[in-house]
Amino acid sequence: MQYIPPSNFRGHDITPLLEARGLEADWFNLNDFDPHSTANVARYTYAEVSRLVPFHYRSAVSSLPHLAAWINTLVDAAREWQAERGAPIASIVHGPSLLLLGATGVGKTHEAYGAMRELAVTGVRGEWAATTAADLYAALRPRHGVDSEAEFRRYRDARLLLVDDLGAERKPTEFTEEINFRLINHRYEHHLPTLMTSNVDPKELAARLGDRVVSRLAEMCQRVPIKGNDRRRNAA
Ligand SMILES: Nc1ncnc2c1ncn2[C@@H]1O[C@H](COP(=O)(O)OP(=O)(O)OP(=O)(O)O)[C@@H](O)[C@H]1O
Ligand SMILES: [Mg+2]
Repeated sequence: MQYIPPSNFRGHDITPLLEARGLEADWFNLNDFDPHSTANVARYTYAEVSRLVPFHYRSAVSSLPHLAAWINTLVDAAREWQAERGAPIASIVHGPSLLLLGATGVGKTHEAYGAMRELAVTGVRGEWAATTAADLYAALRPRHGVDSEAEFRRYRDARLLLVDDLGAERKPTEFTEEINFRLINHRYEHHLPTLMTSNVDPKELAARLGDRVVSRLAEMCQRVPIKGNDRRRNAA
């Protein structure tokens, strides 16, 4: 792992993330020149994650206790895995998933990116892929000169995956149903931690995603309802 100097993070909104974890800025900024130190793993992972976080959510901080608990579970499992194997750093390999449910604008994407940022500063390595479901389907449509199976495997096999807006398409097609099933089934079978958001009413999830997907989701993830008004309209 490359050594990342603390000076690389000027202008990043990291303090609230460290505070949420009970970590000190002095720890994150420790110039110890050790690529395997937990502080360097945190800087390396945070730098990677910040490239995936859209500009609008660059300062997002999660406020849901469920997400904090999920992060704790993943961090503990990674540390156990490291201790068992005597690995130089702790990496997230397996863990539970989470499904954030709520109406338009309640803050699902904000919470998801906030959690992604917070997990990054823990000093545990987590390699994310992030997409909206709609972008995923678009990227996977068979077309000339593109190996869509390779692209699919990039998401399917990611150590940690964010799928934003699952089930948002008005009319599921055979193609989107197949992608949903193959993706969720693989992540279910391999216990790969997946953070999903959806604004579909829980009662309609089965109709949108199919019984077999919803059955797997029921076992692999905790459902977290987010209540409230559309924050975009409030802001306007
Ligand atoms: N806890 C928060 N603190 C400050 N701003 C927030 C918070 N949660 C959400 N927002 C802001 O509210 C707006 C809506 O949030 P977000 O985009 O996360 O909603 P959403 O639930 O993902 O909506 P949609 O279903 O349309 O995707 C955004 O501008 C976001 O930055
Ligand atoms: Mg959203």
